[in-house]
Amino acid sequence: MRQLSLPLKDSPYTIYIGSSLLAEQVLLTSYCEGEKVLIVSNDIVAPLYYDKLVSSLTNKKIHSVIIKDGEVNKSRTSFFQIIDYLVENNFRRNDTLIALGGGVIGDLSGFAAASYQRGMNFLQVPTSLLAQVDSSVGGKTAINHVMGKNLIGAFYQPVAVIIDTNSLETLPDREYFSGLGEIVKYALLGENKIHELLSNNIQKILDRDEAILQQLIYLSCQKKASIVAKDEKEKGERALLNLGHTFAHALETLTRYRHYLHGEAVSVGILMALSLSYRKHLIDQQVIDDYTRLFEQLNLPTKIDVKVDIEEFLLAMTKDKKNQSDSYRVILVSQQGCIIQEETDKALLASVIKEYIS
Ligand code: NAD
Ligand code: GLY
Repeated sequence: MRQLSLPLKDSPYTIYIGSSLLAEQVLLTSYCEGEKVLIVSNDIVAPLYYDKLVSSLTNKKIHSVIIKDGEVNKSRTSFFQIIDYLVENNFRRNDTLIALGGGVIGDLSGFAAASYQRGMNFLQVPTSLLAQVDSSVGGKTAINHVMGKNLIGAFYQPVAVIIDTNSLETLPDREYFSGLGEIVKYALLGENKIHELLSNNIQKILDRDEAILQQLIYLSCQKKASIVAKDEKEKGERALLNLGHTFAHALETLTRYRHYLHGEAVSVGILMALSLSYRKHLIDQQVIDDYTRLFEQLNLPTKIDVKVDIEEFLLAMTKDKKNQSDSYRVILVSQQGCIIQEETDKALLASVIKEYIS
């Protein structure tokens, strides 16, 4: 088992990464304060891992709320389903809520944990690759509003993140590849070891080799933790984690979250960010070629393969909630590292979008 710490001033915690951690009774129970535990999961993940988790929680009264699968359920209905359950069953602040699932369950239950009695004990047990390398770490929790994704939320840190890499065995291929998209992002954020591991082990990665995956997950969490430790509430540097995301969010919005999985949209978005960086003479064409090839090898899209209108795309980019004005916040890649930029050259962005429409 590998361990990493996220040294936040008020709420430091440990990220554990290893195989069969769902069977680690002492570890899991040690993070369950109070006498009751509420496990929040969904109808895909619960049949696979709920019993395993329950049998590792000794001397606790176990409760569950099982949500229907899907992003559409990161909703106020599910949120109040959890809150109502906590109220009706007299949960206390020091009782524990465990998120068992992907990013949807993590974000939803994290927000419920943040809200119930102003914050209850919260443990993340992420089961998708995307959740293991990104969403379970760093304390961003949210539900969606009909007007936009993640519009209602809070920064609320878990007491620990426990990543059982065995759970990846049951993840559908497309979801697995989507998670790889976020791992590539960390390579561009300066984790050269990730780039090396990805480039030299394509077949093993496609075969879900556990040893390689554990290294990739460790390095990804380490990179994310190092950025979050410096800027927990995204006042500055944490925005770097949104590399490719302004383009990706626009793509997801225009396709109503039905065509691309998040990591797939991020893959195309990263290439668009690279193209913008190249046009500003910050990187060579070779970098774009290398990453295009890498995404292709990882079964991730490298072009926009649906009909999109460039003006609508630009509009969706300004509606990105991370933008503070009418400019477009993008992350550029340079040989010296990544840069946060408020881009005002609409024509330049339009030509990048055009380049990526296949
Ligand atoms: P998800 O939670 O919908 O999981 C993807 C699919 O895989 C679902 O069908 C899920 O049921 C299934 N699944 C999960 N684990 C499984 C397993 N071990 N075996 C079989 N099936 C499994 O989506 P996701 O990609 O994990 O996360 C996306 C969500 O995360 C979005 O809502 C996004 O906004 C959010 N997110 C949050 C942050 C953050 O910092 N909080 C960062 C990135 C993304
Ligand atoms: N996924 C971006 C962040 O956590 O800040």
